[in-house]
Amino acid sequence: MESETVIDNLTEQDARVELARLSSVLSQANQAYHQADAPMLSDAEYDALRRRNAAIEARFPTLKRPDSPSDQVGAAPVSGFSKVRHAVRMMSLGNAFDDTDVDDFVSGIRRYLGLEETAALAFTAEPKIDGLSLSLRYENGTLVQAATRGDGTVGENVTDNARTMPDIPTELTNAPDVLEVRGEVYMRHADFERLNAMQTQKGARTFANPRNAAAGSLRQLDAHITRQRPLAFFAYAWGEVSEPLGASQSESLDRLAALGFQTNPLTQKCQNVDDMLKHYKKIETLRATLGYDIDGVVYKVDDLSYQSRLGFRSTTPRWAIAHKFPAELAWTRLEAIDIQVGRTGALSPVARLAPVTVGGVVVSNATLHNEDYIAGRDNTGATIRDGKDIRVGDWVQIYRAGDVIPKIADVDLNKRSKDARPYDFPTKCPECQSDALREAGDAVRRCTGGLICPAQAVEKLKHFVSRAAFDIEGLGAKQIEAFYQDEVLPVREPADIFTLETRNVASLAKLENRDGWGVKSVTKLWAAIEAKRLIPLNRVIFALGLRHVGEASANLLARHYGAWSKFEEGVISATDESSAAWADLLSVDGVGEVMARALTASFAQEAERASIDRLIAHLTVQDIEVPETDDSPVAGKTVVFTGTLEKMSRAEAKARAEALGAKVSGSVSTKTDLLIAGLGAGSKAKKAAKLGIQTLDEDGWLALIAEA
Ligand code: IVH
Repeated sequence: MESETVIDNLTEQDARVELARLSSVLSQANQAYHQADAPMLSDAEYDALRRRNAAIEARFPTLKRPDSPSDQVGAAPVSGFSKVRHAVRMMSLGNAFDDTDVDDFVSGIRRYLGLEETAALAFTAEPKIDGLSLSLRYENGTLVQAATRGDGTVGENVTDNARTMPDIPTELTNAPDVLEVRGEVYMRHADFERLNAMQTQKGARTFANPRNAAAGSLRQLDAHITRQRPLAFFAYAWGEVSEPLGASQSESLDRLAALGFQTNPLTQKCQNVDDMLKHYKKIETLRATLGYDIDGVVYKVDDLSYQSRLGFRSTTPRWAIAHKFPAELAWTRLEAIDIQVGRTGALSPVARLAPVTVGGVVVSNATLHNEDYIAGRDNTGATIRDGKDIRVGDWVQIYRAGDVIPKIADVDLNKRSKDARPYDFPTKCPECQSDALREAGDAVRRCTGGLICPAQAVEKLKHFVSRAAFDIEGLGAKQIEAFYQDEVLPVREPADIFTLETRNVASLAKLENRDGWGVKSVTKLWAAIEAKRLIPLNRVIFALGLRHVGEASANLLARHYGAWSKFEEGVISATDESSAAWADLLSVDGVGEVMARALTASFAQEAERASIDRLIAHLTVQDIEVPETDDSPVAGKTVVFTGTLEKMSRAEAKARAEALGAKVSGSVSTKTDLLIAGLGAGSKAKKAAKLGIQTLDEDGWLALIAEA
């Protein structure tokens, strides 16, 4: 059968052609199966073709297609997860809470094994990831099953979902015939924040913390949803194996890494308790900078023959222990609730706290999210903190998880003063006194003042000059605040930036003569502003600071419409939701009804539209041309930038790549085609090397795009 033919002697060209063919055959087969309900291949044939595709991709990772069948999940949604009995039980860990517990753990093991004080006994120490554990079963190198821990004996079958995760290889080369890899599924802070922002935008439920988000995402019945969730995986253990991965814990982890799994870079071999505690301290110090949640350090006996002698108690191994971090919690008094008004008018309540140290950091502010949160409800109306509301004067418990903004975990009702009243959320904007309204389905109350609201106007201007927008050198948040207040040379809307120079000429209080400015810096500022009169469409769209339109959406909109006039006309005509223009707007990848309505609403507002028109009159907006796929060396490829670029800004390099038809991603995965490594590139470059991803330095990148 063709699918069983060897791939060892395929040339790169053959492989490219073959991957295209497999992608087409498998996609037809998928369609026949799911839509026409008339399978054209048997299950065995289908699986064999998928395996062949995966094997070719594993050998030629750079040839993996954006529409690779490996990334397509064929299975239809199921009504519930089937159950899986683990071949080897999934254990939990005992806990150590202080140095003495760790000492006792080590001496207990020495005693158990009958080892002298002087005999060598090494341990590994690694972060305890705050996620959920997953067991991956590979047979003959192919991922056949992924299961959650469940009760340790029986878990849930989440194979389709696991297959969508970039950190989980679906095929392994040179693996034992049977291999169960175990590790933790988790979500990075940045991805968690982004996911919650998207959920809010869609009016869907948000997650309380990255762990819940990871669990909720992995346990989705529809694998298509899991695919869209940014889940990551660290391997740290194994279940059934047909042959040992190594003689020690550390060797085995190295083997897992060589097989293509992510292992935690902070794993270290320790020779004694001192080393272990030193590493614990180091990890604790790094905790806030890791970008994902950890809740302790796990120590494991390194020698596997010792591990097997030590064995298990009822639910925990004798050879491992989790040394937990002290909870990052502290009680303090809530002194006031302030309301901040953002660029889109959102009224955000902020808790002003009597300063308190939480996990080594002094905290005096915490987010209160919105009025429901203060009242003790989440955005679905369910209670949080057991329904306790938050009142000014309350004793509140603050918690920090990594570098995530501090939150209020609890309220001490016993300490509440008798005359404390529930917080009255303002219904007028505290900055401009306009009505602050809450639309149905929106968790947030917003100021309706638009541009007359000084807070909105200043935030909009700051956004306008920010890096991914107009990026005007010498005109940052501080200068914007000052110009906004300036009586002589006011900047109240973006268009005013472009008339500054001429207004200054006629001004009596010339900028050059003011504190903080001089002839040189002013001349530079004019040049910087001048340079931005010519500006690409995507930057303009992003700079307008329209609700829900982030950098990525702005790029997509720019690529779709191509020119400012088309964009403006398209959005204005889309106000009529039965029009072709509305359908066209919704056809843009990543634009949903919420964003589309926000766009049309902005352009339908007289004052906002006039302000945009005044701005555009000063600009030459560059069209975005999406090249034909074959025209550019990076068309259709997923490109990642890392390290410092010297010859162009990261934002510019990104824009160039996108203009050449590439998809720019922030993280390296098996889907990455090309990594551009600038100066000081670190972990991403290492990962790319491990995955065999083509990597170029900045000059190589410039040479590549020069051909385009
Ligand atoms: S080893 C037989 N290593 O912690 C020992 N577990 O509280 C298997 N966890 O169920 C676990 N990071 O979900 C191990 N580096 C790590 C871990 C880790 C997180 C989780 C795992 C386990 C739970 C026990």
